[in-house]
Amino acid sequence: MGLATGRTPLGVYTRLTELHKKGEMDFFEVVAFSLDEYLGLKEDHPHSFAYYMKKNLYRHINIKRENIFRLHGTPEDIDRHCQEYEEKIKSFGGIDIQILGIGKNGHIGFNEPSSSLSSRTRVKTLTQETIEANSRLFKDKNEVPRFCLTMGIGTIMEAKMIILLANGKEKSQAIAKSVEGPITASVPASILQLHPQAKIIIDLEAASLLKRKNYYQWVYENKGRVNDFLEKKK
Ligand code: PGA
Repeated sequence: MGLATGRTPLGVYTRLTELHKKGEMDFFEVVAFSLDEYLGLKEDHPHSFAYYMKKNLYRHINIKRENIFRLHGTPEDIDRHCQEYEEKIKSFGGIDIQILGIGKNGHIGFNEPSSSLSSRTRVKTLTQETIEANSRLFKDKNEVPRFCLTMGIGTIMEAKMIILLANGKEKSQAIAKSVEGPITASVPASILQLHPQAKIIIDLEAASLLKRKNYYQWVYENKGRVNDFLEKKK
Protein backbone atom coordinates (compact mmCIF):
# COMPACT_ATOMS: atom_id res chain seq x y z
CA MET A 1 0.00 0.00 0.00
CA GLY A 2 1.01 3.56 -0.55
CA LEU A 3 -0.18 5.82 2.26
CA ALA A 4 -0.81 9.55 2.44
CA THR A 5 -0.81 11.87 5.42
CA GLY A 6 -2.82 15.04 6.10
CA ARG A 7 -6.26 15.56 7.63
CA THR A 8 -8.19 13.76 4.94
CA PRO A 9 -7.13 10.11 5.37
CA LEU A 10 -7.40 10.17 9.19
CA GLY A 11 -10.87 8.62 9.06
CA VAL A 12 -9.57 5.79 6.89
CA TYR A 13 -6.78 5.04 9.37
CA THR A 14 -9.22 5.11 12.29
CA ARG A 15 -11.49 2.70 10.44
CA LEU A 16 -8.63 0.37 9.51
CA THR A 17 -7.57 0.36 13.17
CA GLU A 18 -11.12 -0.49 14.27
CA LEU A 19 -11.36 -3.32 11.75
CA HIS A 20 -8.03 -4.64 12.94
CA LYS A 21 -9.08 -4.51 16.60
CA LYS A 22 -12.26 -6.44 15.73
CA GLY A 23 -10.12 -9.08 14.06
CA GLU A 24 -11.50 -8.28 10.61
CA MET A 25 -8.29 -6.95 9.14
CA ASP A 26 -4.83 -8.41 9.28
CA PHE A 27 -1.80 -6.35 8.31
CA PHE A 28 0.80 -9.05 8.87
CA GLU A 29 1.57 -9.37 5.16
CA VAL A 30 1.05 -5.71 4.31
CA VAL A 31 3.95 -3.65 3.05
CA ALA A 32 3.51 0.10 3.37
CA PHE A 33 5.22 2.96 1.58
CA SER A 34 4.77 6.58 2.58
CA LEU A 35 3.93 9.03 -0.14
CA ASP A 36 6.05 11.94 1.01
CA GLU A 37 8.02 13.60 3.82
CA TYR A 38 9.25 17.01 4.83
CA LEU A 39 12.91 17.56 4.22
CA GLY A 40 14.80 18.41 7.38
CA LEU A 41 12.48 16.74 9.89
CA LYS A 42 13.66 13.66 11.77
CA GLU A 43 11.43 10.67 12.32
CA ASP A 44 10.58 11.68 15.89
CA HIS A 45 9.63 15.26 14.98
CA PRO A 46 5.90 15.60 15.77
CA HIS A 47 5.25 17.18 12.37
CA SER A 48 7.14 14.60 10.35
CA PHE A 49 5.03 12.27 8.27
CA ALA A 50 6.90 9.33 9.78
CA TYR A 51 5.57 10.40 13.18
CA TYR A 52 2.05 10.91 11.77
CA MET A 53 1.94 7.40 10.28
CA LYS A 54 3.20 5.79 13.45
CA LYS A 55 0.76 7.73 15.63
CA ASN A 56 -2.32 7.35 13.44
CA LEU A 57 -1.90 3.86 12.04
CA TYR A 58 1.22 1.76 12.46
CA ARG A 59 1.27 1.53 16.23
CA HIS A 60 -2.35 0.32 16.29
CA ILE A 61 -2.01 -2.54 13.82
CA ASN A 62 0.09 -5.67 13.36
CA ILE A 63 2.19 -4.45 10.44
CA LYS A 64 5.77 -5.76 10.62
CA ARG A 65 8.36 -3.09 11.30
CA GLU A 66 10.49 -4.33 8.45
CA ASN A 67 7.54 -3.84 6.08
CA ILE A 68 7.26 -0.12 6.74
CA PHE A 69 9.09 2.04 4.22
CA ARG A 70 9.28 5.79 4.21
CA LEU A 71 11.12 8.68 2.73
CA HIS A 72 13.61 10.00 5.25
CA GLY A 73 13.60 13.69 6.09
CA THR A 74 17.34 13.83 6.64
CA PRO A 75 18.94 11.56 4.02
CA GLU A 76 22.70 11.54 3.50
CA ASP A 77 22.32 11.67 -0.26
CA ILE A 78 18.92 12.83 -1.52
CA ASP A 79 19.16 11.50 -5.07
CA ARG A 80 20.42 8.10 -3.99
CA HIS A 81 17.75 7.86 -1.30
CA CYS A 82 14.99 8.66 -3.81
CA GLN A 83 16.30 6.17 -6.32
CA GLU A 84 16.56 3.45 -3.70
CA TYR A 85 12.97 4.17 -2.68
CA GLU A 86 11.82 3.62 -6.25
CA GLU A 87 13.79 0.37 -6.40
CA LYS A 88 12.32 -0.78 -3.11
CA ILE A 89 8.78 -0.25 -4.40
CA LYS A 90 9.63 -2.24 -7.54
CA SER A 91 11.21 -5.04 -5.50
CA PHE A 92 7.79 -5.71 -3.93
CA GLY A 93 6.10 -5.80 -7.33
CA GLY A 94 4.80 -2.23 -7.13
CA ILE A 95 2.03 -0.63 -5.10
CA ASP A 96 -1.38 -2.31 -5.17
CA ILE A 97 -3.43 0.44 -3.52
CA GLN A 98 -2.33 4.04 -3.29
CA ILE A 99 -4.28 6.36 -0.97
CA LEU A 100 -4.11 10.04 -1.91
CA GLY A 101 -5.40 13.36 -0.63
CA ILE A 102 -5.44 16.42 -2.85
CA GLY A 103 -4.15 19.93 -2.24
CA LYS A 104 -6.29 23.01 -2.89
CA ASN A 105 -3.97 23.60 -5.84
CA GLY A 106 -4.54 20.07 -7.17
CA HIS A 107 -1.28 18.58 -5.93
CA ILE A 108 -1.02 14.86 -5.22
CA GLY A 109 1.69 13.84 -2.82
CA PHE A 110 3.79 16.98 -2.83
CA ASN A 111 3.81 17.17 -6.60
CA GLU A 112 2.99 20.82 -6.88
CA PRO A 113 1.48 22.36 -10.05
CA SER A 114 3.96 22.23 -12.95
CA SER A 115 5.49 18.97 -11.73
CA SER A 116 6.29 16.72 -14.65
CA LEU A 117 3.46 14.26 -15.16
CA SER A 118 6.04 11.49 -15.43
CA SER A 119 8.17 12.59 -12.47
CA ARG A 120 9.75 10.08 -10.10
CA THR A 121 10.54 10.29 -6.38
CA ARG A 122 12.57 13.45 -5.79
CA VAL A 123 12.98 16.65 -3.82
CA LYS A 124 10.40 19.39 -4.41
CA THR A 125 10.13 23.00 -3.30
CA LEU A 126 6.71 23.60 -1.81
CA THR A 127 4.50 26.43 -3.06
CA GLN A 128 3.77 29.35 -0.73
CA GLU A 129 0.17 28.14 -0.75
CA THR A 130 1.08 24.68 0.54
CA ILE A 131 3.43 26.12 3.13
CA GLU A 132 0.57 28.35 4.27
CA ALA A 133 -1.91 25.42 4.35
CA ASN A 134 0.50 23.32 6.39
CA SER A 135 1.50 26.09 8.74
CA ARG A 136 -1.60 25.60 10.92
CA LEU A 137 0.22 22.74 12.64
CA PHE A 138 3.40 24.66 13.34
CA LYS A 139 3.60 27.19 16.17
CA ASP A 140 6.19 29.23 14.33
CA LYS A 141 5.42 29.74 10.63
CA ASN A 142 9.13 30.02 9.86
CA GLU A 143 9.50 26.45 11.01
CA VAL A 144 7.33 25.05 8.19
CA PRO A 145 9.64 23.14 5.88
CA ARG A 146 10.12 24.62 2.46
CA PHE A 147 11.32 21.41 0.84
CA CYS A 148 10.02 17.88 0.77
CA LEU A 149 10.60 14.48 -0.75
CA THR A 150 7.69 13.01 -2.65
CA MET A 151 6.88 10.05 -4.82
CA GLY A 152 6.63 11.40 -8.35
CA ILE A 153 3.49 11.52 -10.44
CA GLY A 154 4.93 8.75 -12.63
CA THR A 155 5.55 6.69 -9.49
CA ILE A 156 1.99 7.21 -8.25
CA MET A 157 0.51 6.37 -11.65
CA GLU A 158 2.14 2.93 -11.55
CA ALA A 159 0.02 1.91 -8.56
CA LYS A 160 -2.54 -0.71 -9.60
CA MET A 161 -5.39 1.11 -7.87
CA ILE A 162 -5.55 4.70 -6.69
CA ILE A 163 -8.06 6.03 -4.18
CA LEU A 164 -8.15 9.81 -3.88
CA LEU A 165 -10.12 11.27 -0.98
CA ALA A 166 -11.33 14.83 -0.50
CA ASN A 167 -13.73 16.61 1.82
CA GLY A 168 -15.10 20.09 2.08
CA LYS A 169 -15.71 23.11 -0.09
CA GLU A 170 -12.08 24.18 -0.06
CA LYS A 171 -11.29 21.15 -2.24
CA SER A 172 -14.21 21.62 -4.67
CA GLN A 173 -12.26 23.60 -7.24
CA ALA A 174 -9.33 21.20 -7.28
CA ILE A 175 -11.76 18.27 -7.64
CA ALA A 176 -13.71 19.89 -10.48
CA LYS A 177 -10.52 20.74 -12.38
CA SER A 178 -9.02 17.30 -11.80
CA VAL A 179 -12.10 15.33 -12.80
CA GLU A 180 -13.59 17.46 -15.56
CA GLY A 181 -10.82 19.75 -16.69
CA PRO A 182 -8.04 19.12 -19.19
CA ILE A 183 -5.14 16.88 -18.19
CA THR A 184 -2.41 19.30 -17.31
CA ALA A 185 0.69 19.56 -15.16
CA SER A 186 -0.91 22.72 -13.76
CA VAL A 187 -3.40 20.45 -11.98
CA PRO A 188 -1.36 17.35 -11.08
CA ALA A 189 -4.39 15.26 -9.97
CA SER A 190 -5.89 15.60 -13.47
CA ILE A 191 -3.46 12.88 -14.62
CA LEU A 192 -5.66 10.38 -12.77
CA GLN A 193 -8.06 10.61 -15.71
CA LEU A 194 -5.57 8.37 -17.52
CA HIS A 195 -5.37 5.78 -14.74
CA PRO A 196 -7.35 2.57 -15.37
CA GLN A 197 -8.40 2.15 -11.72
CA ALA A 198 -8.62 5.52 -10.02
CA LYS A 199 -11.48 6.10 -7.59
CA ILE A 200 -12.29 9.57 -6.30
CA ILE A 201 -14.20 9.45 -3.02
CA ILE A 202 -15.55 12.84 -1.96
CA ASP A 203 -18.31 14.44 0.09
CA LEU A 204 -21.03 16.61 -1.44
CA GLU A 205 -19.19 19.83 -0.64
CA ALA A 206 -16.05 18.72 -2.44
CA ALA A 207 -18.32 17.61 -5.31
CA SER A 208 -20.21 20.89 -5.44
CA LEU A 209 -18.48 22.35 -8.51
CA LEU A 210 -18.66 19.21 -10.63
CA LYS A 211 -20.76 19.96 -13.72
CA ARG A 212 -21.88 16.37 -14.18
CA LYS A 213 -22.50 15.48 -10.57
CA ASN A 214 -26.11 14.41 -11.22
CA TYR A 215 -24.87 12.02 -13.85
CA TYR A 216 -22.23 10.57 -11.50
CA GLN A 217 -24.92 9.96 -8.87
CA TRP A 218 -27.14 8.36 -11.47
CA VAL A 219 -24.28 6.07 -12.53
CA TYR A 220 -23.57 5.18 -8.91
CA GLU A 221 -27.22 4.29 -8.27
CA ASN A 222 -27.42 2.17 -11.40
CA LYS A 223 -24.13 0.36 -11.15
CA GLY A 224 -25.44 -2.58 -9.17
CA ARG A 225 -28.35 -2.98 -11.58
CA VAL A 226 -26.53 -4.07 -14.73
CA ASN A 227 -27.00 -7.78 -14.10
CA ASP A 228 -30.71 -7.38 -13.20
CA PHE A 229 -31.17 -5.40 -16.38
CA LEU A 230 -29.58 -8.14 -18.49
CA GLU A 231 -31.55 -10.85 -16.67
CA LYS A 232 -34.82 -9.16 -17.59
CA LYS A 233 -33.84 -9.05 -21.25
CA LYS A 234 -33.35 -12.81 -21.41
P1 PGA B 1 -5.15 17.58 3.74
O1 PGA B 1 -3.91 17.61 2.75
O2 PGA B 1 -5.68 16.18 3.73
O3 PGA B 1 -4.59 17.95 5.07
O4 PGA B 1 -6.15 18.57 3.22
C1 PGA B 1 -4.03 17.07 1.49
C2 PGA B 1 -2.84 17.45 0.62
O5 PGA B 1 -2.33 18.56 0.74
O6 PGA B 1 -2.44 16.62 -0.21
